[in-house]
Amino acid sequence: MSERDAIELDVTLALAEAIGSGGITGRQLEGCAGPMAAAQAALEGRRAAGDLAWMDLPGQDVSGLVRFAEERHGRFDNLLVLGIGGSALGTIALGGALLHPYHNLLSKEERGGTPRLFVLDNVDPDQTRGLFDLLDWERTLTNVVSKSGGTAETAAAYLLVRDILEGHVAGKAGPAAIRLPVAEHMVFTTDPEKGVLREIAEEEGIPAFPISAGVGGRFSVLSPVGVLPAALCGMDVAALLAGADAMDRRIRESPGLRNPAGLFAGVQYLEYTAFTRRLSVMMPYSARLRFVADWFKQLWAESLGKARDRRGSDVHVGPTPVEALGATDQHSQVQLYVEGPDDKVVTFLRVGSFDREATMPQLHPEKPALAYLGGHGLGELLNAEQRATAWALARRGRPSIRVDLPRVDAHALGQLLYMLEVATGLMGELLDINAFDQPGVELGKEATYGLMGRTGYEALAREVAGLRKGA
Ligand code: PA5
Repeated sequence: MSERDAIELDVTLALAEAIGSGGITGRQLEGCAGPMAAAQAALEGRRAAGDLAWMDLPGQDVSGLVRFAEERHGRFDNLLVLGIGGSALGTIALGGALLHPYHNLLSKEERGGTPRLFVLDNVDPDQTRGLFDLLDWERTLTNVVSKSGGTAETAAAYLLVRDILEGHVAGKAGPAAIRLPVAEHMVFTTDPEKGVLREIAEEEGIPAFPISAGVGGRFSVLSPVGVLPAALCGMDVAALLAGADAMDRRIRESPGLRNPAGLFAGVQYLEYTAFTRRLSVMMPYSARLRFVADWFKQLWAESLGKARDRRGSDVHVGPTPVEALGATDQHSQVQLYVEGPDDKVVTFLRVGSFDREATMPQLHPEKPALAYLGGHGLGELLNAEQRATAWALARRGRPSIRVDLPRVDAHALGQLLYMLEVATGLMGELLDINAFDQPGVELGKEATYGLMGRTGYEALAREVAGLRKGA
């Protein structure tokens, strides 16, 4: 990877030299180098033992998946992804960053024959029925994504779509219901062996791609969970994985704080522990990266928010991730960041070169309040705003980190996503918690099963009902 293509991390504005006593000292950073090297060795050890298969995804063979996508090219106008949490947020982030900003409004020719992308990650009836009424089901491929296969929200959406395909319900308003072959209009992404989706796929010959053991939902964006929709929608999957692979090599070749994942995790760890800054804001200055912040929010929250450490002691740790968008949220949240409680570290995502540019015309030379913009590009303005916000924070002694992407493309995105995943694993090691489970989420999932009458969950349903009475 040439330096021109590499994403870079700049932590200068988190250091005491730049922001004063609220900043990290050289000694603190040095003190973190040893634990970080140990954390990295521990992660690599678990990877070698086969426990962290998500770390090997950059090198996976995706030829079968790419062939599947190529065979369907031009056949579908819509790709409907059903999933939630880690089974949806990666795809949303990829689509937001790598497709045309208004992809779904383009004509088929303008989309290069690829489908529109819809990700349904909620069970809101208005949203669901509203979308279903719009889709031409003959021209829609539905990708049901669930590692467990049983998540209530995804299962509910699957049932509704299947009902339409089986001809029981008219989909698009107008034409009468028609029956469509499920195996041609659905593809599953699920556990390779277990779960109800795998069972149905095997019984009915529905194509199904695997989410291997060791690839948890929030670490699955580079697995078929994210890569299949990406390939179907014409994103550059090879460049995405090559970017992730380049970051993997960079991390392994420069251990500890010398690689971006280690440095990012090290600074975040010091902010959380030494400065008790409990909030971690991600603020892209690129609308195309706004859903990366959403994806990161889940990655960070679900991985690091834990009740117990690995020895079983109560710790209740976890930085709270917050998302903001530059420049929009400068006029919303930045006042709080600059002057409110000093409890945040902000990570800016900044883009070097935008795919499109809009240069402001030199109108109103007689009006200084407008004339100064003439001849400058919007990208230049956006990046100036990022610098201005970082400076305003620094002036008040508030820390920030900056991730520079040369441009928003698949290669840079692969680097960024993989870097943040590894940083999350490292942060888990430093906090001495299991970053790869989610007992809090499972508890809520099981209580929902109980409340909705699923067999085997009656006791939990009674417990929830009791709480309601008591409240
Ligand atoms: O990251 C996670 O593990 C969760 O957010 C899951 O992705 C989410 O709960 C959906 O689970 P599943 O893919 O089993 O339907």
